[in-house]
Amino acid sequence: MFLDCGRKPEYLEKTHTSTGRTCKLHTERPLMGFKPGTILLFEIRDSDIFLVTYPKSGTIWTQQIIISICELMPWLEYRKKNENYSLRPSPRLFSSHLTPALMPPGLKDKKAKIIYVMRNPKDNIVSYYHFSNVWVDVETPKSFEHFLEQYLTGYVAGGSWFDHIREWHTKKEQYNILFLTYEEMILDLKAAVTKICTFLGKNLSEGDIEQVVEKSTFKNMKKDPKANYEFVPKDKISGNFMRKGNVGDWKNIFTAAQSQRVDHLLQEKLGDLSLKFIWE
Ligand code: A3P
Repeated sequence: MFLDCGRKPEYLEKTHTSTGRTCKLHTERPLMGFKPGTILLFEIRDSDIFLVTYPKSGTIWTQQIIISICELMPWLEYRKKNENYSLRPSPRLFSSHLTPALMPPGLKDKKAKIIYVMRNPKDNIVSYYHFSNVWVDVETPKSFEHFLEQYLTGYVAGGSWFDHIREWHTKKEQYNILFLTYEEMILDLKAAVTKICTFLGKNLSEGDIEQVVEKSTFKNMKKDPKANYEFVPKDKISGNFMRKGNVGDWKNIFTAAQSQRVDHLLQEKLGDLSLKFIWE
């Protein structure tokens, strides 16, 4: 399943303030649970669906939507448009925070589908900052300023947000990929769900779409123990996955100088990609 990709990993050492333990982070992909120097190797099926995000960009939200779309259970006796059930696909669903170089190589055959969700970096930073305060496996931030510094230099689990965005956008021609943003999901959830349905080739009725939307609202997901990852032991997380779920929370914490710094980095690192962000 894993293949050594022959690259020499570079590490950064990081000491958890809470535990005093020192851990090594891979500079290209400092992700928990993933062995450095390897890529995933398994056969990709046409029906596979991958959800890819940088951490704290709306992963669980989009998971909820995709699972709801794919797992809608039609009544046997009310067959829609004489659908041939023996031809129903059985999609495997995967989520990932990885960059293209580390994804299963077969994805480049454009067989499987990838949904990539991006969030404006300022809200992403704030969400990640709060998450780092409650998630035991990452270093508790000393302050927002310190966390911002680490994030902007890619010294967080998931690596650099800028690299993640750049890698996926510049390699998009190699994949069968749909780009979505957290903000467009906030602005018009039904339109986003419809877009996902179309991309996945799921012909849902208006009523089914409404059901998926209803299940995926922040209000409803906040009450859902599964969406809240309540199965994660309490000694791993001391807060809630569903925090605020809005756009523009960065304004409550960023200074003007910090905001300008992110704007400047965005221009410097991703200016050529003409990405559009919704900030509030
Ligand atoms: P906030 O911390 O800003 O509230 P991920 O799943 O990638 O870790 O992303 C977590 C972020 O997505 C959190 O943002 C969380 O509240 C938000 N989120 C999860 N479900 C949502 C929903 N249904 N509507 C809006 N935001 C949602």
